[in-house]
Amino acid sequence: MVSKEELNGKVLSESDQHKLIWLGTDEQENEGVVQTNQYLIIHKGKGILLDPGGVHLFARVVSAVSRYIPLESIEHILFSHQDPDVSSGIALWMGVTKAKIYISNLWLRFLPHFGIVDNSRIIGIEGLGGKLPVEFHLQCIPAHFLHSTGNYSFYDQESRTLFSGDIGAAVFPKGGQYVLVTDFDSHMKYMIDFHRRYMGSNKVLKKWVQSVYNLPLHYIAPQHGAIFPEAQTKRFLDWLQNLECGIDLLDTIYKQ
Ligand SMILES: [Fe+2]
Ligand SMILES: [Fe+2]
Repeated sequence: MVSKEELNGKVLSESDQHKLIWLGTDEQENEGVVQTNQYLIIHKGKGILLDPGGVHLFARVVSAVSRYIPLESIEHILFSHQDPDVSSGIALWMGVTKAKIYISNLWLRFLPHFGIVDNSRIIGIEGLGGKLPVEFHLQCIPAHFLHSTGNYSFYDQESRTLFSGDIGAAVFPKGGQYVLVTDFDSHMKYMIDFHRRYMGSNKVLKKWVQSVYNLPLHYIAPQHGAIFPEAQTKRFLDWLQNLECGIDLLDTIYKQ
């Protein structure tokens, strides 16, 4: 269960100049809508938002962010991919901050459908990712076809956190949400159906796992479900690289 104090957010790691915050949740907001996680990094007083979410939860996320940092100090917003639960609030976020937006260059032409006005603030990430042109030491790791065709994970070297987007997503039963994974075996049942159907294939999962396996990891922080603390990260990656999914299971979604 998410505790009362956690509903408004939780500081996951904190040092002199660097803070990582999970931005809370709202049971009512999640009624009939896929639950999402939003994250805020504050580095030397400047903010970076990761997958801040759709129009639906904009007001709650704005007030959660404002508890930690003034909106005008948000300088960058990162989108793992183009789905509405990640990025449909983009026009609203551009209205209340002066942030630059980063997303796969495959999705640049699609974003105006969410009501964008200022293209000069939107930066396309090239296929192989790499270091982002921001002062936060964030690395951009390709996660294409997991599930989106133009998809990135982001690695924060300071907090040693891998923001994995839809990879690691869990779907909880009503009232069953928790913030951190403590028992991987029981958590797996909330992840398996989503990963089998949404993720591209085992071949792609293996590629991604290889690219992140040796990173120092304090957390793997997905966009849905619960966060994997250090003790659970290797269990999760090992499970993932052996999972059959997507086109490995074509016969279960096509008749012939
Ligand atoms: Fe997605
Ligand atoms: Fe998602």
